[in-house]
Amino acid sequence: MDEMNKGWVCGKGKGAIPIESSLKMITSHINILPTGNETGVYFAVDLGGTNLRILRVTLNGGKWSTVEHREAIPMGVSSKEASAEELFDFIARACGELCRSVDADPMPVGFTFSFPYSQTSIKAGCLIEWTKGFETQGCVGKDPAALLQAALDRNEVPLVVEALCNDTVGTLMTNAYTKRSKYCRVGVILGTGTNAAYSDPSLDNLIINIEWGGFNKLPRRSQFDEAVDAGSPNVGKQFLEKMVSGFYLGELARLATVKQLETLGTAVPSILTESHAFDTAAISQLLENDRAALAQPPLSLLTEESRSVLLQVAELVMDRSAAVAAAALSAVVDKATIPSDSAICEVGIDGSLYTKGHEYKARLLKHLRLLHPAGCEIVLDFSEDGSGLGAALVAAAVAGGEKLQ
Ligand code: BGC
Repeated sequence: MDEMNKGWVCGKGKGAIPIESSLKMITSHINILPTGNETGVYFAVDLGGTNLRILRVTLNGGKWSTVEHREAIPMGVSSKEASAEELFDFIARACGELCRSVDADPMPVGFTFSFPYSQTSIKAGCLIEWTKGFETQGCVGKDPAALLQAALDRNEVPLVVEALCNDTVGTLMTNAYTKRSKYCRVGVILGTGTNAAYSDPSLDNLIINIEWGGFNKLPRRSQFDEAVDAGSPNVGKQFLEKMVSGFYLGELARLATVKQLETLGTAVPSILTESHAFDTAAISQLLENDRAALAQPPLSLLTEESRSVLLQVAELVMDRSAAVAAAALSAVVDKATIPSDSAICEVGIDGSLYTKGHEYKARLLKHLRLLHPAGCEIVLDFSEDGSGLGAALVAAAVAGGEKLQ
């Protein structure tokens, strides 16, 4: 709570710098929520950590349908050898796949950009730093909406960027749209990266992007957390994200398993010596005893003993991730609610770790019950497609949404 307050006061909504607070607390410029009555067709671009999605969204009074184009983001556009033009031309060309054949006139597009950027208006911002393994040159310090618009124009794609939002803001908006409830106050992503946004009752319900992945006041970090950090492109940053999110859990489990096997004096199979050989999906499959996955690499390359150690470590890594996420969420819920006003706080959640991580929701609820025994009831709503639909909803809400009460 203190770190959130410091982040807001010092950063003035533009993103606190690390010596002021490890939480950036960035204004989204939005204090309206969708009413659930929005209608119309909107485009959305969703650049997350792993996939790029382009959506043509038809909103229809609390319901929606989408036509989607999805592509895995190739290393060639996210590595440090790649330029901003290469990344944004890749996005523009994917947009062209979906909209050139359908619409000739320029159409509005909402851009979900899931990285830390400060926002100067609803449709302009400035990238502060990359996370989740991205290192593309020429983007930090630039406006992602302007970079996208230039690429759309270069590639003659008839779209105009009308809204820019973080995926957590989009997830909060999506939950409000589908539930039509004024108690939707928090949006969380637990995926390749992790973060939360909330509407602040003391700031006329302005929605703030916390960038909680940067939190660095964690009481205990292990030697494996330090090793994961040292091997990452953003050393010394995103400590909470590196303990919680999908991009890092497999690697944490691998490093701890190697150490345990060495301590036991047991041979370490070569697959365990390869950095990032196990992703979060692989350790979840191991925890689920998924026979098909166990028969294939990388899991099939383990010895019986190393598999048993990895299984025990994976359980600890997954559960610690949920415990840390629950602690962060518990503090955000306190910040987002006024005790006299609400007995309930509805949290929209999306992300591959939440949906596919082994028993992740149950783990999160277990830790929330321990950490947040009194006060308001926390309801976790799976906001399906929150990050993609969210950008379309931001554009629609700005056009005709209701002010939060
Ligand atoms: C980014 C956030 C984003 C989160 C979830 C983090 O790495 O900094 O902006 O919301 O990932 O995608």
